[in-house]
Amino acid sequence: MIINLFAVGDIVGLATVEILKKKLWKIREELGADAVIANGENAYDVKGIGAAEAKALLESGVDLITTGNHVWGRWDLFPMLDRDTRILRPANFPATTPGSGHSIIDICGYRFLCMNIQGTVFLDPLDNPFITADKILKSEEGRYDFALLDFHAEATSEKIAMALNFDGRINIIWGTHTHVQTADEKILPKGTGYITDLGMTGPDTGILGSAPGPIIARFKTHMPQRFSVAEGDAVLCGALFSLDTDSGRCTSVRRIRLELGK
Ligand SMILES: [Fe+2]
Ligand SMILES: [Fe+2]
Repeated sequence: MIINLFAVGDIVGLATVEILKKKLWKIREELGADAVIANGENAYDVKGIGAAEAKALLESGVDLITTGNHVWGRWDLFPMLDRDTRILRPANFPATTPGSGHSIIDICGYRFLCMNIQGTVFLDPLDNPFITADKILKSEEGRYDFALLDFHAEATSEKIAMALNFDGRINIIWGTHTHVQTADEKILPKGTGYITDLGMTGPDTGILGSAPGPIIARFKTHMPQRFSVAEGDAVLCGALFSLDTDSGRCTSVRRIRLELGK
């Protein structure tokens, strides 16, 4: 059978969460998605995601939430990270931090090992992402049918290197974090479906989801500024991956960009 998995790029802002509450189930249905995995690290107005936003997304058609460098932005998420396997933090943070970087979820009767790992180029020096992915795959061997990865990283080279290194071992790999969608969706030689960055889900009028004024002021003055979420219409960016369960290969990767409105 073919399983359609919809990966949604970094969700920015409480207003966007409200829109998704109203529209995501319908979008999911229209795309024919069997499961939705969304990066929620900026849902609480850029800086993190709180328990309320996480719960709202999980009730609105999201099966699993991934995060990234903003995962520690809202302290009220920490108990949920420990308790709820449907929300992940990057696996290569120290083991003493709350939560886990991988979990296994059921999609259409198949066991999907879902991983969230952070890049280390131009980001914090966490554990090596390549070794981290390898360790998870080995530790869960025999317990999953297919594997997927949200690689939350800045550098395109690190993301592509990760994808080619795990081509055929991780069935679906996508990048998040830059908030800018890349046009390189493809199926790698050994069947892994891949895109370097899903892009952002949030207001398209600012700078990576933030209101432009303070960001421009910081670039011009090098002085600290108070950031806020951009106003205006939101877009939803992501990718729809089709996976053939017989071969384990992706049969298509479709880049998605939808106008969400206000
Ligand atoms: Fe990020
Ligand atoms: Fe982000």
